[in-house]
Amino acid sequence: MNIAANPMVEADQTVYLKDYQKPSYVVDSIDLDIQVFDDYTHVNSKLVMQRQTAGDLVLLGRDLELKSISINGEVLSADAYRLDAEQLRISNAPDQAVIETQVVIHPENNTQLEGLYLAGKDLFVTQNEPEGFRKITFYPDRPDVLSVFTTRVEADKKFPVLLANGNLLEKGEAGEGRHYAVWQDPTKKPSYLFACVIGDLAVLKDHYVTSEGRNVALEIYAEEKDIPKCHIAMEALKHSMRWDEEHYGRPYDLDNYMIVATSAFNMGAMENKGLNIFNTSCVLADEEYTTDAAIMRVQSVIAHEYFHNWTGNRITCRDWFQLCLKEGLTVFRDQSFSEDLQSAAVQRIDDVAVLKAHQFPEDSGPLSHPPRPDHFVEINNFYTATVYEKGAEINRMMATLLGKEKFRAGTDEYFKRHDGQAVTVEDWVAALTAGSGVDLSSFLIWYNQPGTPKLEAKGEYDAANQTYTLSLKQSLKAHPKYPNLKAVPIPVALALFDATSGEQLLLSSDALVENGIKDGVYLFDTDTATITFSGVKTKPVVSLLRNFSAPVNLEFNYSDEELAFLMQYEPNGFNQWQASQTLLERILLNGHDADIYIQAIQKTLPSVVQRDPLLASRLFEVPTEGYLGSRIDTEYNPEKVQEQREALLSTLARELGAFCKETYLTLDPDLQKDFSQAMGVRALKNIMLSMMARQGDADVFDLAEQQYQTTGNMSERLGALKVLVWNDAPQAEAVLADFYTKFKDEALSMDQWFMLQAAHPKATAETIKALTEHADYDLKVPNRIRAVTGGLNANPVNTWSFGVQHIINLAKILDEKNPIVGSRLLQILSRWYTLAEPQRSTVKAELEALKPLVKSKNVSETLNSMLSV
Ligand code: TRP
Ligand code: ZN
Repeated sequence: MNIAANPMVEADQTVYLKDYQKPSYVVDSIDLDIQVFDDYTHVNSKLVMQRQTAGDLVLLGRDLELKSISINGEVLSADAYRLDAEQLRISNAPDQAVIETQVVIHPENNTQLEGLYLAGKDLFVTQNEPEGFRKITFYPDRPDVLSVFTTRVEADKKFPVLLANGNLLEKGEAGEGRHYAVWQDPTKKPSYLFACVIGDLAVLKDHYVTSEGRNVALEIYAEEKDIPKCHIAMEALKHSMRWDEEHYGRPYDLDNYMIVATSAFNMGAMENKGLNIFNTSCVLADEEYTTDAAIMRVQSVIAHEYFHNWTGNRITCRDWFQLCLKEGLTVFRDQSFSEDLQSAAVQRIDDVAVLKAHQFPEDSGPLSHPPRPDHFVEINNFYTATVYEKGAEINRMMATLLGKEKFRAGTDEYFKRHDGQAVTVEDWVAALTAGSGVDLSSFLIWYNQPGTPKLEAKGEYDAANQTYTLSLKQSLKAHPKYPNLKAVPIPVALALFDATSGEQLLLSSDALVENGIKDGVYLFDTDTATITFSGVKTKPVVSLLRNFSAPVNLEFNYSDEELAFLMQYEPNGFNQWQASQTLLERILLNGHDADIYIQAIQKTLPSVVQRDPLLASRLFEVPTEGYLGSRIDTEYNPEKVQEQREALLSTLARELGAFCKETYLTLDPDLQKDFSQAMGVRALKNIMLSMMARQGDADVFDLAEQQYQTTGNMSERLGALKVLVWNDAPQAEAVLADFYTKFKDEALSMDQWFMLQAAHPKATAETIKALTEHADYDLKVPNRIRAVTGGLNANPVNTWSFGVQHIINLAKILDEKNPIVGSRLLQILSRWYTLAEPQRSTVKAELEALKPLVKSKNVSETLNSMLSV
């Protein structure tokens, strides 16, 4: 019997954190039998369940064809349960219930890429986080139900690889050209961590011996031709395993660790227990085919998914509101790991750049939400920059405050208390507090509030009394859904410098103790505060929020000269970068004069180029038009921002022309001591090449063509290709065609080819149309869709004119085919309301027109929020 869906649920599909209730039944074990055929898949399951609290026995299921259900061996008649589109409900079930179900599903038609789906000609994979498992079988599909999974997978022998989580118990013949494998995962886990893979793949093998002496078989599965591109990921995996032992005392706990690469994947990668599934873009790494940035990303995502084994899998989330418990902590851990791969300063620059370019705008607009939201309609919409990146910053602040040893004592306590449990953000903060002996409970405010705090600071020097006084004030923009905003604890890392010598002032310990400053960090946790340093003999230059010690918008009454001073004299590369970015923002958005900046960069850059080319490549970066646009809250005019930025770049090219050419001609990536320096040299050379083009250098196209033709490195090749294509050089068509011929069978390289053309500054609606009608454009592969939208969005002037229609069309199509991706792409337009008229009204009307056309919870929740400003 199908009962009508509950009208209350239909009217308001919002789920609230405050309504959390324990599940009425636990599952001791699940036996799954998955039989894959060309046109359908049979899934049989047996759940051993036990009552825990009063209430119905509820199994969640979506798009499942139920063939039979029995309880303790007795087949249930249709009136013994209630079934709707979301769940199967049994009232008065016995306290001990063995439930067996048989269902039919259709992974071969699954375009949403969640649950079990066909991911290419010869590959079936799963994606079950957050709520995909209910599309495989009926189950209490929620993260607080942990069980032991035994999985039998059966398929035609044209799929030689049959994988699931845990240990392989047996495999054998199943008749009629079919075979099977049985896997068992000894560790209890929630259903979102279940995975299986059925396919025809090659494998790269290695092994790792843990600190406890466990010999772990490591396997990376990919297409045969891609196996040579898996070595960097394999090395990163072993490095991550060692790193987690050394930094957190966490060894791996199974005898195997498998990674499977697929090109049909909604996100980056997934931490399924012992059987990670990865987007090819996050596992394949090879200088010839993928960029340096992509290679760095592969290593950090490998680490991220590996670190989830302890922060996410062994200790998981009680409910999906707690998502940032596992994601924020795991991102913080992978960022720390990546500090070993490039310099810590550059890693911090890259992480803060991402935070400010994505999380800050999200948090200042209609999609703003706390790192731990208290309500949602569709949880897939909450895998956001706020949950991941701001979540990581909260952990970083606590780690900064505690220092290495106490933070480690805190995490040790967390693992000791909660191993094997599904917990909350409160549990995490309580364990850190108990282990470190430092009360961190006020940091819970960060988890529960939306918005980026504004930190206003003023410095005053009193020459007569030789004091320097710093006044601080924090505030948050009001949010309709979250009233009662409170002051948050903000660790402010600071230093004072002598304005003439550039030396850091060593303040007397009295001055520090009086002001509550420990290890250079002042904890500002009230609405306002004042700190006074005495014995300061001359007017100092203060450096605030060093290493970006808190995710806040700092407004400090620096003079431009002081910022230029910090660009030169801050000993830490991150702080130099922060000063230069602040100065550039003033020039580009507030009309400040560029001279001071140009002089400072001329003084700073040459020595950094020699000493640390990677850092130099970052210091010489001008904020993107997209980032600059995100700093404007009303009357945003993309053309005007473009004009300002172009003007500055032209001035820089003119003033630094000779230096750029000399740097381009003398730097050689092959002479660098390691990958990260070589990567820096390549980045720097590419910047220099584009500056030369801007300056109208007569040789530049020849040099670019030469760079394109002679290199075997993708970053060098793309850097040259960009200069030729974006400047409409005579060679442009020929090199684009050459690239296509060389790389047409390499999907990740082709993504770059699509992206680069979509990102042409003079791209038009026709450019985008031609790309999306190209034979190699494929709506089933999110990477390819994102290559075009990502390229388009590199130029906000284009995004906000003809781009709007492209994105709205995609949202409409994907609303049915792949709502997770559709909803994410639509967010590109989330800052429509900041536009100046008439653009603002035009885009608004187009968004309004989309409203009645979309059905998925994903796209409609996003669209409703976007329009609720
Ligand atoms: N847990 C994954 C990670 O952070 C995220 C993820 C992968 C995901 N695939 C997904 C989230 C699909 C939602 C939907 O590594
Ligand atoms: Zn994650």
